[in-house]
Amino acid sequence: MKVTVFGIGYVGLVQAAVLAEVGHDVVCVDVNAERVEKLNQGIIPIYEPGLTPLVTNNFQAGRLRFTTDAPFGVEHGLIQFIAVGTPPDEDGSADLQYVLAVAKTIATYMNSPKVVIDKSTVPVGTADKVKQQISAVLAERAVDIQFDVVSNPEFLKEGAAVADCMRPDRIIIGTYNNQPVDVVRELYEPFNRNHDKMIFMDVRSAELTKYAANCMLATKISFMNEMANLAELLGADIEAVRKGIGSDPRIGYHFIYPGCGYGGSCFPKDVQALIRTSEQNGYTPKILQAVEAVNNKQKYKLPVLVKKHFGDNLTGKTFAIWGLSFKPNTDDMREASSRVLIEELWAAGATVHAFDPQAMEETQRIYGIRPDFVLCGTKEAALQGADALIICTEWQQFKAPDFDFLKQQLVTPVIFDGRNLFDPERLKQKGFSYYAIGRAKSVQSYDVL
Ligand SMILES: NC(=O)c1ccc[n+]([C@@H]2O[C@H](COP(=O)([O-])OP(=O)(O)OC[C@H]3O[C@@H](n4cnc5c(N)ncnc54)[C@H](O)[C@@H]3O)[C@@H](O)[C@H]2O)c1
Repeated sequence: MKVTVFGIGYVGLVQAAVLAEVGHDVVCVDVNAERVEKLNQGIIPIYEPGLTPLVTNNFQAGRLRFTTDAPFGVEHGLIQFIAVGTPPDEDGSADLQYVLAVAKTIATYMNSPKVVIDKSTVPVGTADKVKQQISAVLAERAVDIQFDVVSNPEFLKEGAAVADCMRPDRIIIGTYNNQPVDVVRELYEPFNRNHDKMIFMDVRSAELTKYAANCMLATKISFMNEMANLAELLGADIEAVRKGIGSDPRIGYHFIYPGCGYGGSCFPKDVQALIRTSEQNGYTPKILQAVEAVNNKQKYKLPVLVKKHFGDNLTGKTFAIWGLSFKPNTDDMREASSRVLIEELWAAGATVHAFDPQAMEETQRIYGIRPDFVLCGTKEAALQGADALIICTEWQQFKAPDFDFLKQQLVTPVIFDGRNLFDPERLKQKGFSYYAIGRAKSVQSYDVL
C-alpha cells in the first residue's frame, strides 16, 4: 500500500520503517530539512534499538523515502499518517498547531481520496478539528474529494519501539463510520496474524484510550513512589513490598518500580494535558493532579539526599552521574529526572561529571559547554575524583559495577541510587554510604512529601 507519514520523530520514523519492512511503499515528510538530509545520507537522528538496520535496508530497497516535499507526500499515499509532536502549551494542554498544520497541508494538495490517520497523542475532539480543517480547505479550493479521518493512537515504548511496532499488543482504531475500516485492516494485516489485535471504536474513545493508558501507567509509578517515601518513614523496604504486591496477579510486577520520578516525552505532558481537558470540561481530576504533584516532587529526591549528606553548599564538590536519558535504551532527554538533578547540583555550586551510553550528544546540545560540566567517555572516567556517584537511569551496564574499583575512584564512598539497583546490606558491608529510594536499610532518608 502507498503510505505517507508526516513527522519523522520517534513515532513517525519507527512506524514508517516497520510499515516499509512488511512491504508497504512509504514516504516520510518532515519540515526539519536537516533531519531529512541526514536520513537521506543514512544517518539516523535518534537512538532506538534495531532501528538503524531497519531504516537502512528499507531505504536501500526504495520502500522508505524521506523528503521535505509535502505536495509529493500528499500525492503519494492513500494513507496519510499524522505523527507530529503535540507538546504542552503554556497552560499544559496539548498544542495542536503541528497536527492542524499537517491537516491543512494534506487538504491543500490532495487530488484523490485519502485516509488521514492520526497517530499523534491528541485530546478528545481533535479528529473533529482535523476533519473540519480539511473540509474548510477543500471548500476554499472548491473541490469535493472524499476523505476519512481515523484515530489510531500509538502505544510504542521508547527503547523497545521497533519490537512494539512489529508486535503490537493492540491496534486501536477509532472511526466515524465503516468507510475506512477495510483500508486500515489491510494496512495492519501483517501485524495482525497471530490473533486479532485490532480494536475498533468511535474516535473520541480512541483518543481517550491513549491518555487513559499513559495516565494509568504514570499513576502506578507515582503510587509506588508515594509508598517508597512512606516505607522510609516506617522502616520498611519498598523492594520487599514491591515483590509482595506484584505477586498478586491483579496488580502484577509491571510498572511498580519506585525511583527518582518519571520523565520522557509522554507521561508528563499527557498527564498534564488530561488534567487540562478535565478542567476545561468542568471536572477536577484529583487522582491525576496528585500523580503529577508526587512526580514533580520525586524528581527532587536525589538532589535533596545529596544535600542532606554534603550540606546545602556544594561549592568545590564534584558528582559523577551515571545515566542521563529518561529511561534506558533511548537518547531521549525530554523531562528526564537527570535534568532536575544536574540543575540543582549546579545551583548549589557543584561540578558534574556525567556518562550515558546514548544520551551524551543530546545532553551536550541542551547544556552546551560549561566549566562545571564534563561529559565523560566511560562510566569509569566519570568517577575519577568525584565526591560521590549518583545513578539516575538503570542502564544494564550500571547494574553490577566493581565496587572495590568504585571505592578507589571516589573521594568519599557515597552512592545515591535513584533506581534501587543494589543491595543496601552488601553496600554497607563494603563500606559505602548508600542512599536509595524507599529502603530503610539504606542510609535513612527523609520525608519527601
Ligand atoms: N515518543 C514516544 O514514545 C511516543 C509514544 C507514543 C505516542 N507518542 C506521540 O506521538 C507524537 C509524536 O511524538 P514523537 O516523540 O515522535 O515526536 P518528535 O518530536 O520526536 O517528532 C515530531 C516530528 O514532527 C515534525 N514536524 C512538525 N511539524 C511538522 C509538519 N507540519 N510536517 C511534517 N513534520 C512536522 C518535527 O520536525 C519532528 O521531526 C506525539 O503526539 C507523542 O505524544 C510518542
